[in-house]
Amino acid sequence: MKKLYYLIFILLFSTAVQSAEKPPHAAIASAHPLATAAGFEMLDQGGNAFDAAVAVSAALAVVEPVGSGLGGGGFWLLHQAKDNRQIMIDGRERAPLAATRDMYLDSQGKAVPKLSIDGALSAAIPGLPAALVHIAEKRGRLPLSKSLAPAIRYAKEGFEVGARYRLMAGFRLKALLNSNAAAKVFLAGGKVVLPGFKLVQKDLAETLEAIALHGREGFYAGKVADKLVKGVRAAGGIWTQQDLDEYKIIEREPIQGEYRGIKVTSAAPPSSGGIVLVEVLNILSGYDLEKLGEIDQKHLIIEAMRRGYHDRARYLGDADFVELPIEQLVDKYYAAGLRESIRIDRATKSAALAAAVSDKAGGEDTTHFSILDREGNRVAATLSINYPFGSGFMPPDTGVILNDEMDDFSKKAGEPNIYGLVGGKANAIEPGKRMLSSMSPTFLEDEERVAILGTPGGSRIISMVLLGILDFAKGNDPGSWVSLPRFHHQYQPDVVQYEKGGLDEKTQTALSERGHLFKEINRSYGNMQAILWDKKHSVVEAASDPRGEGNAQVD
Ligand code: GLY
Repeated sequence: MKKLYYLIFILLFSTAVQSAEKPPHAAIASAHPLATAAGFEMLDQGGNAFDAAVAVSAALAVVEPVGSGLGGGGFWLLHQAKDNRQIMIDGRERAPLAATRDMYLDSQGKAVPKLSIDGALSAAIPGLPAALVHIAEKRGRLPLSKSLAPAIRYAKEGFEVGARYRLMAGFRLKALLNSNAAAKVFLAGGKVVLPGFKLVQKDLAETLEAIALHGREGFYAGKVADKLVKGVRAAGGIWTQQDLDEYKIIEREPIQGEYRGIKVTSAAPPSSGGIVLVEVLNILSGYDLEKLGEIDQKHLIIEAMRRGYHDRARYLGDADFVELPIEQLVDKYYAAGLRESIRIDRATKSAALAAAVSDKAGGEDTTHFSILDREGNRVAATLSINYPFGSGFMPPDTGVILNDEMDDFSKKAGEPNIYGLVGGKANAIEPGKRMLSSMSPTFLEDEERVAILGTPGGSRIISMVLLGILDFAKGNDPGSWVSLPRFHHQYQPDVVQYEKGGLDEKTQTALSERGHLFKEINRSYGNMQAILWDKKHSVVEAASDPRGEGNAQVD
């Protein structure tokens, strides 16, 4: 009898703990109000965070064609509440099988400008459609006919484009004009559309319907696949049906680290995000940042970033193709060694770490969303077609704008990509290989709080997420993480980049006395979408970056 009472007590106790572990609200933060609404539609229909993630990803492909889409890929970091499991869905694009290491070099061995950025040859094999199907089938509850419905509706009925769409269409006008299908959909009479323009995407709606009906085969086989391959090849690309047949989603263990009692979970290779974040945080964990003055703090953060990005360039690539020293890079003792090389009174010259290369930096692209459902399932997803409007190329009659993710490979050792990032052999082009990414969808957990965050922004993604983590560690809320002034160092070019207004003059003067050089980015950057579940106070908060046009909602 005593035993039975004990068993009942244990059962009641564990149920109470479990319900205390459930958030009082669901939340979604994404780069577009219609995408956030699509996610909530799924939750309202009994779907979970993973169904919502499928709906949000597909909706973003329609309403934010600047940043992501069916022609691209991404990383979906999932937390499955029922077994407390965290998984990274790797839907990164991969190089076509006909790709070669020197495919973007001329006969003199020099990189041909734009060849890896504009047009069909710059496009890698998309992973996003396969990821939608994979997540829906393996983790969701709703059929694709339901989770793709909002995206199909938005594509058919159209929606009014915002200022950012117009700005980026102007920025990528030349590339879009090179593709008749893209120009017809995204421009008006060969010009940037006027404010109030309603973007209708009939072909894209049909492609989405094919996926809703046939799953993976709706994109990677049959009529759509045929149009994709023919369209790419007619425009000078190298895709084959075999590329589409062989594309596979990979479930990976995320990278985990710990910073001042906070468990950090982020993207594994082929993203560099998790490794660089953990390495930089490990370096910083040796200092009592809060006790230091603002200049010392910034100096140390910059020096830690420099070393993290240096290792990114030296070591990282697709772990399925090259051996990566992951254990070393995320090791606290390794970080302690790097810390020894940091002087508090002087900036290290990046050239002292390795040879210098030239300066180039990219802009706004990619997208991120965060989701928490009432069961405690979470999604942090960063998706991309790389540059704004990807390659600018759309295979006729598909509605699918293709990525230019091939530019994320190191096309030549030491040659910077569009974000000024350099890389070595580990990230050289190989057939079927996934290119190194900076996308860093991230979860943070301490005893009382759970955070879900991430942002677009090319090479600056990792430093933005880092600043968000340090702000979480200070106890601040998501509204603060997404609004922080941003600065960045990526080893090469050897300058501290900062967004307009991101570093005041006094700070710059003090830091330049230690040898730092600066470059102001002439606008703000990033579009962070974040959620906080404060378990202790049973509160859920969400925030969308004030720099963007997104929407964060708690329900
Ligand atoms: N294309 C941007 C990234 O993957 O980092």
